[in-house]
Amino acid sequence: MPDSSNSGLNSNNIDWLIGYLSRQEYVRLLGFTPFPWQDAILNSTSKRIVINAARQAGKSTITSADPCWTAKYADKSLSIVLAPSESQSQDDMEKVQGFVALDRTYPEYAPAATHIKTANGSKIRVVPARQTARGKSKPNIVILDEASQITDIIYTEVVLPMFTDNDGRLIMLSTPYGKQGFFWDTFCNLEPDDPWERYEVRSPWQPVQTPNGLDLVPYMDGDEKAYQEERAKHGIRAWFSPRHSNYKEQLRLLWRMGIRKYKQEFCCEFVETEQSVFSYQEIEGMFKGKRQEVKKEPVRRSGVEYSLLEA
Ligand SMILES: Nc1ncnc2c1ncn2[C@@H]1O[C@H](COP(=O)(O)OP(=O)(O)O)[C@@H](O)[C@H]1O
Ligand SMILES: [Mg+2]
Repeated sequence: MPDSSNSGLNSNNIDWLIGYLSRQEYVRLLGFTPFPWQDAILNSTSKRIVINAARQAGKSTITSADPCWTAKYADKSLSIVLAPSESQSQDDMEKVQGFVALDRTYPEYAPAATHIKTANGSKIRVVPARQTARGKSKPNIVILDEASQITDIIYTEVVLPMFTDNDGRLIMLSTPYGKQGFFWDTFCNLEPDDPWERYEVRSPWQPVQTPNGLDLVPYMDGDEKAYQEERAKHGIRAWFSPRHSNYKEQLRLLWRMGIRKYKQEFCCEFVETEQSVFSYQEIEGMFKGKRQEVKKEPVRRSGVEYSLLEA
C-alpha cells in the first residue's frame, strides 16, 4: 500500500489504490478500454483460467496486463509468460512493456530482452516454453500463450511442477489446434470438481458452402445471448469477438483459408489436425493485411477448385 501518512492523498496514490483494487480499473487508468469479454477476464479471481479465442481477438493483450499488475502490486512477486516460439515471446514482451510504459506510477524497472525487474523486487519473465524455462521459485502467475502449440511434455515437466505447493494462478490461452494436447483436454474435458474457468471468444460469423461459393452467415442468427446460453450449458462463458465483426474482412480471410481453417482460427473449433497448417506468422500476417506467401489450400467454389490468394 502507498504511504500517504506524510504527503496526504494525491492523484498519483489515488490512482495507485484504484489500480490495486481492480485490474479492470487498472487498465482503464492506463487509457485502455477492454472489450466486455476482456473485462470479465480482468475481473476474474479464479486461479485456473482457460481461454479459447479467435486469432487476433485480443487475448495476448489482455492477459499481458496481469503480470504488469501483479509485479506492481505484489512485492517480490514472480510472473512468467511462456509462448511456443521466440517470436511469440517477443510479441508478448512488447505487450507487457506497452502496459508498463503507460503506467506513470509504476515502480522503477530495468527492462531486458526476456524479463523486467522492478524496484519492489518483482520480476516478469517472458520466454519461450522450453525446458530452460524451468525455475526454482514459485510463480504468482503463469501465462501460457498459444497453449495449443506448447507440447504436453513442457506442460507436465515444466509448468505443472511450478504449482507444487504453490497457490499461484495459471492462465492458458490459445486458438485451437486439433483434438489433442493439454489445451484441448483442459478446455473440452470437464472433470469432477474441475477448477477451470472457461472462456470462448469466436467470430460472430459461420462459414458455409453455398452454390455460389464460400460465404459467411451470422452464427446462431447473430444472437449473442442465445450463444451464451448454449455455451453456459457446457460451463463456458462465451462472447462474439468485436474484432471479427467486419463481414468483408472475414470473408476475405475465409476465401484464403477455406472452411476448416476458418473454423479453427476464428470459430474456436477443434477441427482434426492435418500436416500442413498455417503457421502463427502466416495467420497473423493475413489478419493484418500483409501480403505474403501462404500455403494455399484448394478452395471449392461453385464446384470448381481454386487455389486463391485474394488481391
Ligand atoms: N480492447 C481492445 N480494443 C482495441 N484493440 C484491441 C483491444 N484488445 C486488443 N486489441 C488489439 O487487437 C490486436 C490483436 O490483439 P492480440 O492480443 O495480439 O490478439 P490475440 O493474442 O488474440 O491473437 C492488437 O492489435 C491489439 O492491440
Ligand atoms: Mg496472441
